[in-house]
Amino acid sequence: MARGWRQSKNRIVKNVFCFGCLFVLPLLVLAVIVYSKSKNVESLPAPRELPSQKFDDSPQFYLIALIMSDPTKSATRKAVRETWLSNTHKDVKHYFVVGSKGLAQDVLQNVLEESSSYHDMVILESLNESYSSLTGKTLAGFQWLHSNHNFTFLLKCDDDSFVRMSPLIEQLRKQPQSHLYWGFFKGGSSVFQKGKWKENDWFLCDTYLPYALGGGYVLSSDLVEFIAKNAPLLQQYKSEDVSVGVWLSPLKIHRVHDVRFDTEFKSRGCYNEYLITHKQSANQMREKQANLLKTGKLCQSELRVRYSYNYNWTVLPSKCCKNFDPELP
Ligand SMILES: *[C@@H]1O[C@H](CO)[C@@H](O)[C@H](O)[C@H]1NC(C)=O
Ligand SMILES: *[C@@H]1O[C@H](CO)[C@@H](O)[C@H](O)[C@H]1NC(C)=O
Ligand SMILES: *[C@@H]1O[C@H](CO)[C@@H](O)[C@H](O)[C@H]1NC(C)=O
Repeated sequence: MARGWRQSKNRIVKNVFCFGCLFVLPLLVLAVIVYSKSKNVESLPAPRELPSQKFDDSPQFYLIALIMSDPTKSATRKAVRETWLSNTHKDVKHYFVVGSKGLAQDVLQNVLEESSSYHDMVILESLNESYSSLTGKTLAGFQWLHSNHNFTFLLKCDDDSFVRMSPLIEQLRKQPQSHLYWGFFKGGSSVFQKGKWKENDWFLCDTYLPYALGGGYVLSSDLVEFIAKNAPLLQQYKSEDVSVGVWLSPLKIHRVHDVRFDTEFKSRGCYNEYLITHKQSANQMREKQANLLKTGKLCQSELRVRYSYNYNWTVLPSKCCKNFDPELP
């Protein structure tokens, strides 16, 4: 069957235009009519890149970046596209993940237009951005990725993360190619009992379990698959990164702590070794990109704001992360 499919592939490709005339165009017209009549969020056309992705010989990507983003933040996405996403790699792909449920009509229209210009957005129709937690969104993103792509690694980051893609990929090739959970790990901090990050459903332990901080971490596809397949059973906690740590906690995998991930709630400063820097404004991203183009270095001058540490895996989480080391970036 596989052989037959291959032999007929050329014919299929030649017939694409004909196929398009007969089926796709009328469907598109119909979709536009239905959409403009109903103005109903649920009748949104699927993200436009999906059909062509599937038709495109199911490509295998080495790394897919899912960048969690707010539908209204098109200027931020523009800065990301023009800076760290501007160096393209043929086996790397990125998507901005946004929710579209309950969006104002004009915002929705802008998101759809942006999506059809750049073909790099995952629009989750079931996700109410202003209501749902980042955890639910990340989980939905993992499920979408698992069902729609073949890939080796996922990079989950935010739209205020600056990623040095080429060195990241170079370093990724030196890591275990499966069972990998790579980032800047933390453990032992007290569970939030009040405020914005209050955990209502947490009863596991006095402290969080070890997890890679959410400004950017890499998962091999087998771990994404594990999470996606078990999604309906997983308890979702307030923090997305804490949740991923819990979901993967029973697994025998490679947890790799790397101080080149500056992915905490606040940046530790600027070091040229950094693969990912979190909490960057559009201007800071443009500055970093300009530095890289001009001098090959991320930072105009290196700067420390906070100390870093190596995770100690031989002790329990309450003691894991205490050795702040002035030698580390
Ligand atoms: C989305 O969430 C907002 C805020 O909670 C709510 O007002 C709105 O009704 C929700 N929309 C939908 C379609 O669920
Ligand atoms: C992944 O690759 C396999 C084998 O090449 C193919 O059968 C499958 O459809 C692909 N899946 C996706 C989601 O592209
Ligand atoms: C981890 O902690 C143990 C026990 O305190 C200590 O002996 C060891 O040197 C630490 N390892 C690292 C890499 O800090």
